Amino acid sequence: MEKTLFIVKPDGVRRGLVGQVLQRIEQRGFQLERLEYRSAVSSELIDQHYEQLLDKAFYPAIRAFMTSGPLVVGVISGPKVIECWRTMMGATLPEEALPGTIRADFAHAASPGGTIENIVHGSDSAASAAREIKLWFGE
Ligand SMILES: Nc1ncnc2c1ncn2[C@@H]1O[C@H](COP(=O)(O)OP(=O)(O)OP(=O)(O)O)[C@@H](O)[C@H]1O
Ligand SMILES: [Mg+2]
Repeated sequence: MEKTLFIVKPDGVRRGLVGQVLQRIEQRGFQLERLEYRSAVSSELIDQHYEQLLDKAFYPAIRAFMTSGPLVVGVISGPKVIECWRTMMGATLPEEALPGTIRADFAHAASPGGTIENIVHGSDSAASAAREIKLWFGE
């Protein structure tokens, strides 16, 4: 069965949205394969996770945001889960996300701190999913 990696980012944990994100995953019928609360994530792990963005001018703000507090990371499985989870998350910019998506329903349209605080992450392809699951869970 197809698998993807998801993260409830530090803004989602701070704002008490872990339960609502998990509820949407379960409601959609996806299976939780792994689920971990990580109280301290290293900059090195975030650098590897977002390796495609390392050379962007805004990358330091992403690293600071992603290491700013606890996060919840997990693996879910189901038919077409990679694409479906991306649809459920909504567009990267909360102000562009469609109503009904997590980012539209919960993320604040104007994020503080120079990066986009958008509650959740999801792998963007089968190759990314495999790479990210290995990176976070070592399997
Ligand atoms: N132009 C930008 N300015 C500031 N932050 C950005 C910008 N583009 C992306 N980001 C931040 O980096 C994250 C990763 O960017 P990416 O292009 O992979 O978007 P995404 O795939 O929608 O998000 P994610 O990978 O977190 O699921 C975004 O979710 C956002 O927090
Ligand atoms: Mg991405």
